[in-house]
Amino acid sequence: MGRLISIVSGKGGTGKTTTTANLAIALGKLGKNVCAIDADLTMANLSLVMGVDAAEITLHDVLAGEFPLEEAIYVVPQYENVYMIPAAVDWQHVIKADPRNLPKLIKPLKNHFDFILIDCPAGLQMDAMSAMLSSEEVILITNPEISCLTDSMKVGFVLKKAGLNVLGFVLNRYGRSKNDIPPDIAEEVMEVPLLTVIPEDPAIREATLEGVPVVAYKPKSKGAKAFMELAEKIVSMGNENR
Ligand SMILES: Nc1ncnc2c1ncn2[C@@H]1O[C@H](COP(=O)(O)OP(=O)(O)O)[C@@H](O)[C@H]1O
Ligand SMILES: [Mg+2]
Repeated sequence: MGRLISIVSGKGGTGKTTTTANLAIALGKLGKNVCAIDADLTMANLSLVMGVDAAEITLHDVLAGEFPLEEAIYVVPQYENVYMIPAAVDWQHVIKADPRNLPKLIKPLKNHFDFILIDCPAGLQMDAMSAMLSSEEVILITNPEISCLTDSMKVGFVLKKAGLNVLGFVLNRYGRSKNDIPPDIAEEVMEVPLLTVIPEDPAIREATLEGVPVVAYKPKSKGAKAFMELAEKIVSMGNENR
């Protein structure tokens, strides 16, 4: 059985989409079959970050009941073992898609992939909740600032209560400011394990602009190495649970 993992945060702009894209490619490199889903239905950009062209049939069309999910699953030919379900970016699609259908559509994918990574909207609104509750495991993404940490902690708390397995948090963009909250303090605040520290790395932003996630764009960069480490950790955590 595959693992359904949502990538979540309290605030927007913390690095959820960047993490989803890099983790998908990194897990693919480790020989796992991965499906990355753009479930940020109003601010979709996973396709852009992964360098995938606009798709004819998207998750929005499936949520509107117009197409079966299989028709919205695309191979990402640039990367080994990576598939994705893209979302639409225009408002006409957004208004016809019902986010409440996400869990029943996404959960059966665990029969077809080793990993299903769900790029979620930020916060705890209905669209975010529906996306997050489509998963069984959770990775919280936060930046080393207090309001960002506490917002992600709130989301983690709610998801734990909902019965999901919160694997821990990623401290992303560490080293941008001298006032950054250090990893050990962040871990105390979050009350869940620190999975990986991803440094602030200009290569990551550059990679986003190129539409080639950093693990493929500059595999030797600090950022890429940190994402590979995260992938290995996630794989090993699955083995412990078996
Ligand atoms: N560790 C990092 N170092 C430098 N830039 C980063 C890092 N993580 C994310 N970014 C940049 O921050 C921006 C927001 O990231 P994104 O993944 O889109 O956030 P979210 O999906 O949570 O809204 C992007 O331009 C991305 O390239
Ligand atoms: Mg995003």
